[in-house]
This record gives sequence, C-alpha cells and structure tokens, in this order.
Amino acid sequence: MKGIILHGGKGTRLRPLTHTGPKQLIKVGGKPISQWGIENLIRYGITDIAIVLGNNYPEKVVEYYGDGSSLGAHFTYIYQGEARGLAEAIYRCKEFVDGDRFVVHLGDNIVQHGLEVLVNSTDESAVLLAKVDEPSRYGIAVVDGNKIVKLVEKPKEFLSDLALVGVYSFSPHIFDIIESLKPSKRKELEITEAIEKIIIEGKTIGFSEVDGWWKDTGTPEDMLSANMRILDFSTDYDTKGTVEASKIEGRVFLGKDSKITNSTVRGPVYIGDGTVVENSFIGSYTSIGGACHISGSELTNSIVLDSSTVSDSNLNGSIIGFKCTIKRNNEKPAGSRMITGEGTSIYI
Ligand code: G1P
Repeated sequence: MKGIILHGGKGTRLRPLTHTGPKQLIKVGGKPISQWGIENLIRYGITDIAIVLGNNYPEKVVEYYGDGSSLGAHFTYIYQGEARGLAEAIYRCKEFVDGDRFVVHLGDNIVQHGLEVLVNSTDESAVLLAKVDEPSRYGIAVVDGNKIVKLVEKPKEFLSDLALVGVYSFSPHIFDIIESLKPSKRKELEITEAIEKIIIEGKTIGFSEVDGWWKDTGTPEDMLSANMRILDFSTDYDTKGTVEASKIEGRVFLGKDSKITNSTVRGPVYIGDGTVVENSFIGSYTSIGGACHISGSELTNSIVLDSSTVSDSNLNGSIIGFKCTIKRNNEKPAGSRMITGEGTSIYI
C-alpha cells in the first residue's frame, strides 16, 4: 500500500506565518504539522510515500524531509504548482501509485489514530468521518444505517454534521473517476465529488468515525488547539537539557542543550534543542522551538517557532513565527514599536 501526503495550498488564513513557507511546516510539539501525518502512515506500515508540493516555498519541504530515510520511509516529490483541487493533486500521483491501493493524508490534518478502516478496507474507497460544529466548512457525509448514501462538499444547507476527515484510501479506479470530473464552483477538482461518483456507481464506501480526535489546522485557532491536543497525547517526555534553580512540573519535554534557569515550567510543555529559558514562567500547552531565548516572560497556551526571542513579555494564545523578536519597550517615549507583515494580528 502506498501513501500520498498533500503539501500544497496557500495557507492564506495563517498569514503572516505562511509568507515564508507552507503551513504544513509550522511546528507543534517540536514537529511540522505534516510530520505528524507522515508518522501516522509509517506507523501503519506505509513507507513508500509521495509528497505533493504546491508553489509556496516547495523547496523548504524537500530540504526538511529529504529522501525520508531519517524517518524510515522513502519519499517521492511530485509538483502540483498552482492548487487545482485535491482530486487533481491525487491524479498527479497516478504513475507513482502504479496500480496499488493507497492512502491520502492531507498534510494539514492531524488524526490521533484510527486509520485501520483505511488500511484494511477492500472497498473502492474508505473514509474517516468526524462530528463537527460548522458542517458548511467541510465535505459532509449523509449516513443511513451503516451506509454512506451521499457526500457533498461544503453544503450551504444542513445535511449532516459528519465531516470528511482529510484522510482517505482508494483503489486505482479513482483515477478513471477523476478523469471524468469537472471543476467545482471554487474551480477545483473535488475529491468529495469523486467519492460521491463511486456511490452513484452503486458501490459501498468503507468508513468509520474518528476514534480520538482530529484537527484541520487551517486557522491560528486550529493550530493552537492542535498544539494543545498534541501536547496532551504525546508520550515523548524527556529532560535532555540542564535545569538550574527551577521548578519543572508535570509532563515537560526539554530538548538537548536546552537550559532552564530560575524559572517554572508547568507541563504539558515542549521546549526544543538549544533553547534558553531564564527568569520566566512557561505554562501549560506551550511549544517552544529550538534555539529560542525566553527571558523575564510568562508564556501560556502558545507556540513559539525556532530561533525566536521573547523578553519581558507575557504571551497567551499566541503564535510567534520563526526568527521573531518580542521585547518590551522600556525606553521613552513609552509605546509599542511594531514592524508587521500582511495578515498580522496584534492584541495589546
Ligand atoms: C478539504 C476537503 C473537505 C474535507 C477537509 C478536511 O477541504 O475538500 O472535504 O472535509 O479538507 O480538512 P479544504 O481544506 O480544501 O477546505
């Protein structure tokens, strides 16, 4: 069985974080969002994986993952360029799939576990479903008894609250169906429509409801909530760093060469390699990347990406990008000095 990770998309709702890289490379709990998906496939024995790249810094994806050998997998890169829909991205993998069955995992979706139905199903397609509050944001499945009878992409009117999670499995027959698709209203070839066509052919779609949790990380709020869930379920807690005159409470991961001085860290918290924390309080559900410097600050429920500095500042529910500086202005005249990029949100 082969795997496909879809790594395209503009990530507009996550700007400015996505001005310098794809959203799937934003790290939570020390790993890019897409790596959680890739490792999920590998856990189910799927190691021959194609990564479909969009046109938002695709070279950064190749640079980060390489040939996949460090994760015990083999990666093939396929360029989609301009986004023309999930079905079109999948179609580009026809040669790679080469007649095999395959699982498609959206690179911005995190599913805790439960891919069994996808891996074991013998149906033309199998999907995962999850109850959602805003069905109009997703592909929606109407289930009657133990059968999916209808699938509609982002329905305006309420049909059901069961959304299609961004993880699917297919037989190669899906390529014939994609060839017959017409672009949707959003000018994309929709995979939901392709699966609906399998139902119209009179065949059944395997499915199960997500066991555990699922997150589509399209917005900053989704990203913070994914961070919370990952820190909750991650079992990889270890203290590889140095702790001096500090309190470490609960489940805390300290990367190698990290240094915590005169601070309290209250888990679940992830702190990456080489990061220095001094005279600070790091509260629950905070992920701090590698090579960061945090001093005189209080951070809770936040994500700080690699190589950033936070001094004399209190952050809650914040996402700080790579190589950023957040610093209290102690000079006169008092006031905040900001240099912000398009799409920045600041709450003072
Ligand atoms: C895509 C799919 C949708 C699915 C969702 C899951 O939506 O089209 O059917 O429910 O992923 O994340 P998009 O992210 O393109 O809005």
